[in-house]
Amino acid sequence: MAQVQKLFPLLQLLADGRFHSGEAIGEVLGVSRAAVWKKLQQLSDLGLQVESVKGRGYCLAEPICLFDEENLQQFAKAQGLPLVHILPEVDSSNAYLLRLLAEEKVAANTVAVAEWQSAGRGRRGRQWQSPFAKNLYFSQLFCFEQGVSQLDGLSLVVGLSVVDALTGLGCECQLKWPNDVLYNNKKLAGILLEMTGDPSGLCYVVAGVGLNVNMKNSGGAIDQAWVSLAQALGEVVDKNKLTTKIMLELQKNIALFKAEGFAAFAQRWHKVDAFLEQQVVLHLGEKQIFATDKGVNEKGELLLDVDGQLQSFNGGEVSLRKL
Ligand code: BTN
Repeated sequence: MAQVQKLFPLLQLLADGRFHSGEAIGEVLGVSRAAVWKKLQQLSDLGLQVESVKGRGYCLAEPICLFDEENLQQFAKAQGLPLVHILPEVDSSNAYLLRLLAEEKVAANTVAVAEWQSAGRGRRGRQWQSPFAKNLYFSQLFCFEQGVSQLDGLSLVVGLSVVDALTGLGCECQLKWPNDVLYNNKKLAGILLEMTGDPSGLCYVVAGVGLNVNMKNSGGAIDQAWVSLAQALGEVVDKNKLTTKIMLELQKNIALFKAEGFAAFAQRWHKVDAFLEQQVVLHLGEKQIFATDKGVNEKGELLLDVDGQLQSFNGGEVSLRKL
């Protein structure tokens, strides 16, 4: 990967997806036409496609939105939100916060966002595709004082916070247990919680959110039905605004969760449950359980009606049953 930061002035210029002449780019960057050409070629190392049309110049095939450090930090400060680490590139924003924590170099509630992840982590050891600048890669560190028993339903609350933020932006989305955010039954965002610390005392959770924002094409790298927020809303989305919305919702919901646990969220969760009262299959390793989805209990466990008996589950992968 080319040195990402060096390409930022060019990226900022081309982010609007419009044509810019080689001459105009050279002037803004203060470099020669030959240097412009070299830099444009480096953009393909970031997976960005540049189109060139004689007489019009160069444009990005898909518009992008970059993090605006000044704007984001100022807004966060004004709203009493935590500090945001804005990373041009990282292996995984979750791993980054866990590393800082191990080195005792980070305060609770710190957020890290990245433009690009070289080793984005998904649930169940899967990879999370993280193309440059197109999507949101967000992690936040939370601290809990009463051990893992205080964490029941936390991942569902993070999911609800993302849904609240997206609903506020006009995207009516739903949740698939435990925390996949769906729009029209396609995956819009995924959440990965990673815990460390004392299971019966002070423990830390890094909550990672991967949200498809302006991506139009994954180049076939994603093996499930997906959708981006831009596709859902029909317009390019500002990642900065989206980030602050998610931070605000998390701040509110995590405070309530710490005070009252998941019980305070169960009803709200049912309202956005993508599969409520539908015929589903729960995949538990090799085992498949056919049942009717009955939502979640006060611990955030999945409730299923299996042959007339209500049963709770806290693992597995649920999908709609094809009848
Ligand atoms: C899933 O598999 O559905 C969860 C995906 C979570 C991806 C996010 S992107 C930001 C954070 N950093 C990571 O490496 N993973 C999470």
